[in-house]
Amino acid sequence: MSSTASSPSFKTITEGSSRMCYPADQEQAVFYNPVQVQNRDLSILMIALYQERLQQRHQEKLEKRNYSDKMPPYEGIRILDALAASGLRSMRYIQEIENVQHVTINDLEEAAVERAHQNVKENNLQDKLASSLQDPGIFIQQADARAVMYSKTAQYHVIDMDPYGSAASFLDAAVQCVENGGLLCVTCTDMAALGGSHPETCFGRYGCMPIQRSGYLQELAVRILLDSISKSAARYGRVLRPILSVGMDFYVRVFAEIHNSKSAVNTLSLSTGYVFQSTQCPTFYVAPAGQTGGNKNNVYQAGRLPTMDAAIEGTNWKIAGPIWLGPLHDKGVIQKALQKLQKMPHLSTKDRLEGLLTSCSEELDVPLYYNLPSLAQFLAVSSPPMMKIKAAIVNAGYKVSGYHKEPQAIKTDAPNHVVWDIIRAWCDTQPPPKKASSSALKMRAVEPKIKVNFAIPSSLPNPKKSEIRRFPQNPQPNWGPKPRATGVKRKLSAEENELSPQE
Ligand SMILES: C[S@@+](CC[C@H](N)C(=O)[O-])C[C@H]1O[C@@H](n2cnc3c(N)ncnc32)[C@H](O)[C@@H]1O
Repeated sequence: MSSTASSPSFKTITEGSSRMCYPADQEQAVFYNPVQVQNRDLSILMIALYQERLQQRHQEKLEKRNYSDKMPPYEGIRILDALAASGLRSMRYIQEIENVQHVTINDLEEAAVERAHQNVKENNLQDKLASSLQDPGIFIQQADARAVMYSKTAQYHVIDMDPYGSAASFLDAAVQCVENGGLLCVTCTDMAALGGSHPETCFGRYGCMPIQRSGYLQELAVRILLDSISKSAARYGRVLRPILSVGMDFYVRVFAEIHNSKSAVNTLSLSTGYVFQSTQCPTFYVAPAGQTGGNKNNVYQAGRLPTMDAAIEGTNWKIAGPIWLGPLHDKGVIQKALQKLQKMPHLSTKDRLEGLLTSCSEELDVPLYYNLPSLAQFLAVSSPPMMKIKAAIVNAGYKVSGYHKEPQAIKTDAPNHVVWDIIRAWCDTQPPPKKASSSALKMRAVEPKIKVNFAIPSSLPNPKKSEIRRFPQNPQPNWGPKPRATGVKRKLSAEENELSPQE
């Protein structure tokens, strides 16, 4: 990404293969945040891989004998950039992704649509302008994204939603509009709601309750968004297949396919559930909303509370959810993404993406995580080295990983009492605490059930020894959200201003 002054009164930005030119005195008229280049780079990678999957699925269908004479040839993907602002994202999609048949650049604001037209010229893409939504090429329009998606005037394989703040109010329209097997790319920057500072707003927008200050808020935010999308999809007999679900900088970004399958909708209660958080210690449990069992006519039943005996005796429990409990990523696609990334040296955030995708590829498929310093702080002991704790979990016969957005996360399939036995064993190696809460003393006094071994096995990878940087520093100062564009005429409600003043 670079910016130069092409003439005193105009500014030009180059990002990837695309240029954007605008009057220098109108920089704020249409939204553009250079920080979101990583979001756009990642989207190019994930949509490019989706295009390959779609082409392959088409080929497989063709190869099935009965289909061959009925199917039209593969024509490429059709993308709706539903909240496009300057259209820079679309310009990049059409120039950097193979087989893009059509992109609709859509925005509610006149200033944004004008800027998108200028950018088409700036990128010498005038000959690609389409005269209708159905034609191949680029179609620019001023409309409410919801109206566009509910009208279903055109088919879209990919719908990209990158709104101010929350995407919640666009989800219902998007899940019914996208093609069967199509890809939704959703950004939400309303971390005040998703991240638990305003639980009431989160519940109103997403129908899910977060738990303020819980150690796993970063992942909870992603799982709340996935739950909201999956519930919207289920209403239309469709299910969600997450491809990549990440927290990045100050927002979450989800890439998920939507498939028609009424039978798969029936299983949704198994991959939806609740979190029970002790009010007195960091212990938490996760329980699905449903379970299988019973007789043939009653396969799905209400889930059961797990036995929650690893927390301080007599604790109360906070309830969070419902959240998505299924996988966050498709690991096969992530491996392909890592390979494809090596062939995309032009992406300015390539190294950051490699770190992010590598972390995601290593993540255990279990919901949520413990925060190591919080566990240690609770027991009034100095925080142990991460590798020792991971080693003790592996030596006890369980799996462990990190989480891509939280350097101190411990994600494990070990039962809670094993995690606590390990932290208690660490306490035994340290001087006794000068001061500890009565809860900490109670937790320290629990008789261990396992013998803990902190020896680091050679099979345990040490991310610090890898050349891939999983948690890079921000590349520049002010690497954060940006105010809304000034071209916005609509008056914001007091609550909107309070909750998402920046995007
Ligand atoms: C965060 S900006 C989009 C940034 C852009 N995707 C990018 O990568 O640079 C959000 C845009 O959504 C537009 N917008 C807000 N509400 C809308 C709606 N209901 N329908 C269509 N566009 C809308 C705003 O005008 C603004 O340009």
